[in-house]
Amino acid sequence: MIYRIPLARTDIGVSESAAVARVMENGRLALGPEMTAFEQAFAAYHGVSGAVMVNSGTSGLMVALVALGVGPGDEVLMPALTFVGTMNSILNAGATPVLVDVDPKTANIDCDRIDAAISDQTRAIMPVHLYGLAAEMSAITDIAEARELLVVEDACEAIGADYRGRKVGAIGDAGVFGFYPNKMLTTGEGGMVIADDPDLLDKCRAIVNQGRGVRNVPGYSLRGTELAAAIGQMQLASLDERLTRRQGIADAYVRAMQNVPGVEILARGEPRSWFTFPVLLPEGTNRERVIESLRDAGIEAADYFQAIHKIYSGIKSAGELNVSEGLGRRTLCLPLWDGVEVHIEEITAALTKLL
Ligand SMILES: Cc1ncc(COP(=O)(O)O)c(C=O)c1O
Repeated sequence: MIYRIPLARTDIGVSESAAVARVMENGRLALGPEMTAFEQAFAAYHGVSGAVMVNSGTSGLMVALVALGVGPGDEVLMPALTFVGTMNSILNAGATPVLVDVDPKTANIDCDRIDAAISDQTRAIMPVHLYGLAAEMSAITDIAEARELLVVEDACEAIGADYRGRKVGAIGDAGVFGFYPNKMLTTGEGGMVIADDPDLLDKCRAIVNQGRGVRNVPGYSLRGTELAAAIGQMQLASLDERLTRRQGIADAYVRAMQNVPGVEILARGEPRSWFTFPVLLPEGTNRERVIESLRDAGIEAADYFQAIHKIYSGIKSAGELNVSEGLGRRTLCLPLWDGVEVHIEEITAALTKLL
């Protein structure tokens, strides 16, 4: 279904089309110079020594875990409120995800609960920068250092977000991005692993390409493509400018939301890479009805993420997950893309009327 005001819209233009045409003309579609150039530019943008392109964010997270030696018998701590790909990457690496509740203000992993969640099996923490807001990385890396744990950042929703002067994804042992079309940088499908350790990068590169060059690791076929890498380079070149425009749109939303009674803005904090515009509906609101009514009016809105344990049974958790449940029940994501600013008044008026 195509909505008059969609939830997300890709921001690709003539430079991306020209880049695709260039690859089509030269005819090299895999393992070529476009991917190398995209990886180098991506690593430079993030201030790390290297990057490895993959076919999705979920693949990237799994590859990072496998390359770091995380596997069967190991537990990985992750927030209970996130996209299911975070958990799937851990399961597919053969490890055990352990859900930790989130902070009510940021919707990111609650750092005060991490220590108590650590067991003898814990090997890694996978913080998620949900909805583009950086997780509390200094607390996370402090704990990781003290308890000798690895950190793999799920930065799939947060490309370009700063955390104390560093880009998210560049802070942990590895960071991973996703390029699905609802993301701020898209290549259609795709993803990237970044890291500073050259050995780790070599391992990731081997794992995505049938394990070539590395012994004793299972190989996969998870490579990016030249066409996607050509689009990615153009998207990266315009990223900061586009993120600034998205910040302006979010500011306009914040002003307009002051007139919507009972609605809170979820996870405010700057600087931020705005993935979508998430708000919290008043407790007890029939969110499904709100989403349906907005959609009937041509406005696409979504609930995005439920707490993981509400959807999947049998997943291990560390303590209560009440905050994740509450936020998962009340969140409504509103359209955020370049050009949506002309519709903000209409969107907030429709929401006010429904509530
Ligand atoms: C939090 C999070 N993790 C991981 C991913 C990876 O997604 P994909 O495998 O679709 O690129 C996404 C993308 O939607 C995400 O939002």
